[in-house]
Amino acid sequence: MKIWIALIVATFAVGAYAQCNCETMKWATCDGTPCVCHLMTENSTKQVLDCNKLIPKCFLMKGEMYRARKGLSTRTGGKPVETAFVDNDGIYDPDCENDGTFRAKQCNNTDTCWCVNSAGVRRTDKGDKNLKCEELVITYWVRLELKHKEITGKVDAPNLKAAIADAMHKRYLNFNKDLVKGVEYDPDARLLVVDVEQPKGQRKSDLTNMAYYMEKDVKVLPLLRSQDPFTPTVGGQKLEFENILVYYVDEKAPTFTMQNLSGGIIAVIVVVVLAVVAGLLVLFFATRRQRKYNKTQQREMDNM
Ligand SMILES: *[C@@H]1O[C@H](CO)[C@@H](O)[C@H](O)[C@H]1NC(C)=O
Repeated sequence: MKIWIALIVATFAVGAYAQCNCETMKWATCDGTPCVCHLMTENSTKQVLDCNKLIPKCFLMKGEMYRARKGLSTRTGGKPVETAFVDNDGIYDPDCENDGTFRAKQCNNTDTCWCVNSAGVRRTDKGDKNLKCEELVITYWVRLELKHKEITGKVDAPNLKAAIADAMHKRYLNFNKDLVKGVEYDPDARLLVVDVEQPKGQRKSDLTNMAYYMEKDVKVLPLLRSQDPFTPTVGGQKLEFENILVYYVDEKAPTFTMQNLSGGIIAVIVVVVLAVVAGLLVLFFATRRQRKYNKTQQREMDNM
């Protein structure tokens, strides 16, 4: 009898043990009943994770810095709008809020600081410690440029959007399909342009976490425990991706210094100065003529 009880208890224990792991973060370590998972981050602190959700990018980056991961692909492509920008800095050790959102100001443990958007991507020039970042600006739109590997068949373009949204929904914890606004396809370039967009004015941005998981999947550095690649199937044709480029569009345009802007500003200043000078000249001559006219009138009156 005792043996049976011991066996049953042991089975339950093994079952609980096997279930105690983190589906959304493969580097997490989990233990205890109830199961608690955490991720080692910089300064050897343990970040507790909610493994029922995609892990906030800010925590992931801290974990990656801890593991001293490196290796970014070179990036080229086209912008969705003039104000869109890419992440040219790569990874740093971010400061996160308790809920995993990025602090607006980031310094990477140095005296050089900059402001980031809700995706943790730099959106201002770098400054010193006194730099002010008023608020965390939300990234409401990301454009994913995905290049797929060579295929033998053809891509069923009309069904592409539904297939991509479906694959995202399945792999990235029920990611909201409605946010996939548009998919364009260029068969010659093997390029898929996926626009993921949330309404402006929302306080939080979940699409940036999703984009980060996808970026890592395509770079064959998956963050999920499940190591399946992100391979949507469109009309029987499986698509595997070999490259990804992410554009970020923030609710407010970034404030990088743009070298070629200075020429434009100078031109505007010149035009304004010219207009003011012309205005003053017109005014000057008008008043002078007025005075002359008044004088002649005066003389005529005197003569009379
Ligand atoms: C952050 O600091 C690390 C070294 O501590 C460095 O390798 C990395 O390039 C820095 N990142 C940025 C974005 O400055």
